[in-house]
Amino acid sequence: MAEVPPGVKGMNDILPPEVSKWQFVEEKARSVLEAFAYREIRTPVLEYTPLFVRSVGEVTDVVEKQMYTFDDRDGRSVSLRPEGTASAVRAYIERAQWNREPVSRWYYIGPMFRHERAQRGRLRQFHQIGAELFGVDAPSADAETIAMLVTMLVDMGLPASELQVNLNSLGEPEERAAYRDALVAFYRGHLDVLDEDSRRRLETNPLRILDSKSPDVVALNANAPVLLDTLGEKSRARFDAVRKHLDALGVRHDLHARLVRGLDYYTATIFEITTAAGDLGAQNTICGGGRYDRLVASLGGPQTPAIGFALGVERALLAIAEPAENYEPAVSVFFAPMDEPALAYCLPLAQKLRAAGIRCEVEHRGGSMKSQMKRADKLRSRVAIIVGSNEIASNTVTLKDLAHGTQSQVPVSDLAPKIHQLLD
Ligand code: HAM
Repeated sequence: MAEVPPGVKGMNDILPPEVSKWQFVEEKARSVLEAFAYREIRTPVLEYTPLFVRSVGEVTDVVEKQMYTFDDRDGRSVSLRPEGTASAVRAYIERAQWNREPVSRWYYIGPMFRHERAQRGRLRQFHQIGAELFGVDAPSADAETIAMLVTMLVDMGLPASELQVNLNSLGEPEERAAYRDALVAFYRGHLDVLDEDSRRRLETNPLRILDSKSPDVVALNANAPVLLDTLGEKSRARFDAVRKHLDALGVRHDLHARLVRGLDYYTATIFEITTAAGDLGAQNTICGGGRYDRLVASLGGPQTPAIGFALGVERALLAIAEPAENYEPAVSVFFAPMDEPALAYCLPLAQKLRAAGIRCEVEHRGGSMKSQMKRADKLRSRVAIIVGSNEIASNTVTLKDLAHGTQSQVPVSDLAPKIHQLLD
């Protein structure tokens, strides 16, 4: 036999029964997002590369090391989107969305691409459920955004008690610049402790050294200056207001003074949610987000405050312990025709039931009644409809209630109401 060319590493097929759990998670997310008055947007997976360089940031891991970037046939550099915020902002600006409404609430569900070392919970094609709110700078909006995210996760089956909401403020870019200088001065005093990667970052993006996994640097970071301490009065008051609103909404959260996030566009509030639930291992950050009040303007739009987040669907799925099989829909009605004329008789009956919203499967392959009943069982069907020449002659079917093992003759005209009655 010929060998099938393999799928791309780090990019998965999503097939039944797993897809049922995906659909469940997506449905829960949509219903919460719609309840918070968010509307869906669908943007292309491919963008011109400068969009990401200018938004996510030139010296971030995502842009430096992880993007799928190539020249298209016109010789223009394009990249598979590594995240969704940049595209949302591009669409917002290209459409002059601020002229249509002062506040826009948008969400998206779809694949993102990062060439990372693939492992549990870390893929090269992964999926995000993201939300972006444009046009509001009130601290209450930050709190409501986080509350929405927590509601979504709880609805998906992750108990609030197992979610850890980590919060920090990056302040304004000017404050961050002053902090950056303080940080660089601190690290320069400890150059011997820094690994090669951190030394490189000292020149390009010193805040990212706070994220280092190198044990020596982790120890050093315990004494590094803390951003929050260096923020001005206004930024600190704003951050306090966010926390107060979160308290009022009953959202448990922790200050995480060393949280920095890996994307450059953030200002003020940033947050991540981690969980010990399920099967996540080291990749236990299931979502992240924050404010990006300067991004719209820096990409060519008017000054527009904005805040958003993205939830990693694969990670959420790993955190939800329930096995995928439990989300699988059962076939309600299994048609078991005994011969060809019975099959022809069953087909329009199944169509009628489907039109009445009942999930049906017709056995087209014939076979003994025993094998057909086995299959009905395997599909966890609630009802089997058996048809032979007697049923055709009397314009009836034999209806087998597979939950109770009872059987009755039902006129074709009574079929749909009878089945509805059984399914209720
Ligand atoms: P991010 O933190 O880069 O933020 O990604 C958000 C989430 O996507 C992560 O918490 C994680 O669950 C998931 N994720 C990221 N990379 C991978 C991967 N390689 N494999 C599996 N899951 C992954 C953003 O992308 C921002 N755009 C969020 C945002 C929206 N901020 C403001 N608005």
